[in-house]
Amino acid sequence: MASTMISLASATPSASLSVQETLKGKTRLGSGSVSTLFNKEKGNPSNKKKSFGRISMTVAVNVSRFEGIAMAPPDPILGVSEAFRADIDVKKLNLGVGAYRTEELQPYVLDVVKKAENLMLERGENKEYLPIEGLAAFNKVTAELLFGADNPVIEQQRVATVQGLSGTGSLRLAAALIERYFPGAQVLISSPTWGNHKNIFNDARVPWSEYRYYDPKTVGLDFEGMISDIKAAPEGSFVLLHGCAHNPTGIDPTPEQWEKIADVIQEKNHIPFFDVAYQGFASGSLDADASSVRLFAARGMELLVAQSYSKNLGLYAERIGAINVVCSSADAAARVKSQLKRIARPMYSNPSVHGARIVANVVGDPALFNEWKAEMEMMAGRIKNVRQKLFDSLSAKDKSGKDWSFILKQIGMFSFTGLNKAQSDNMTNKWHVYMTKDGRISLAGLSLAKCEYLADAIIDSYHNVS
Ligand code: LMR
Repeated sequence: MASTMISLASATPSASLSVQETLKGKTRLGSGSVSTLFNKEKGNPSNKKKSFGRISMTVAVNVSRFEGIAMAPPDPILGVSEAFRADIDVKKLNLGVGAYRTEELQPYVLDVVKKAENLMLERGENKEYLPIEGLAAFNKVTAELLFGADNPVIEQQRVATVQGLSGTGSLRLAAALIERYFPGAQVLISSPTWGNHKNIFNDARVPWSEYRYYDPKTVGLDFEGMISDIKAAPEGSFVLLHGCAHNPTGIDPTPEQWEKIADVIQEKNHIPFFDVAYQGFASGSLDADASSVRLFAARGMELLVAQSYSKNLGLYAERIGAINVVCSSADAAARVKSQLKRIARPMYSNPSVHGARIVANVVGDPALFNEWKAEMEMMAGRIKNVRQKLFDSLSAKDKSGKDWSFILKQIGMFSFTGLNKAQSDNMTNKWHVYMTKDGRISLAGLSLAKCEYLADAIIDSYHNVS
């Protein structure tokens, strides 16, 4: 706090109290921080009482140096959880953040994670700093999981892999690399996209623009719009693609459409930049969910891939993920990696070890790896079941003839309901269903038991709120 001297004029000494009171409303006054100097007859308290002349005072107040900082709005996704926690209604349902819950709507720690943590205790692992690029065993298995261990990009050492702070931190490292080495290049982002993408590129000072993706008329993919916007972008742009289970829409291109997207990106000399946040969690298959990335890599393209283990291993708070940059030579990959490390060092020095060891232990151990795949299938299966039940409930209850089948065509943990902001507000204000204002609901936070209630809320909001 800064101490500021403010000169005031007052008719009487007693008026100084009300001046101080007024000040309290505007400024922060630390105890004992106000000193009042009576310039007239000062030093004699009895004289002060008798005086009715004009008195000039100087008041020292503590004014925050941060006075000019306005209150930030709540985060559109994580802020929803804060609002949910404050709601005392028993019917409340948190479908905002994408976090897996059990059928009892409780957080879930995977059994393989507990086993991997026990292994760490048994081995008596230390807490020494990791290298800037992260845990070597993690970096190895994460790239192999993504591309397949026998992929030429791995065998030819053409991938620069650096451990990141989950998907967000990995995207942020790549954004800093783009800003530094591709000045003026823009990133094309789908419309809509995950709420944090724009923040990441804004903060990294990387220009971005949007390509069409979602078609509200069909609640499906605007494939023609997507292709023509990617074609129209300046040559050499970065094209941000969701590897699988597009967030927030849950709408993915078909394999044939992926081929066409790759054609256009190659023609325009763009650089594909994948965000893979759900490998294995979207379809239940690690390979199927990495097929888009592998298709591009098989064409010999240079590309970037950010990975996250928040959803598929339930390691939300461990902040574990990676940035992978596939280069056309091992030499280029080594140089890119050295620069990623250079970017990471002043940002956070080096990453944390706990989540990296869990991933390395699970993916690197055949028995644990198989158990993980079974647990992932179980989680993906539960989400598919609530998706089906929600569709059934909507179809049975809604007598208007509206076709709700788009819900079944979407994939992953989210459903994009098509509800607008006012309708989403109604879901929250009237029904205590917490969701993001773009109409996204997280099916991972829904139970079979709550599907009918949710269907009632959606039908009411859709038909009765414009
Ligand atoms: C989400 O989209 O809900 C998650 O990826 C959580 C987040 O960080 O936004």
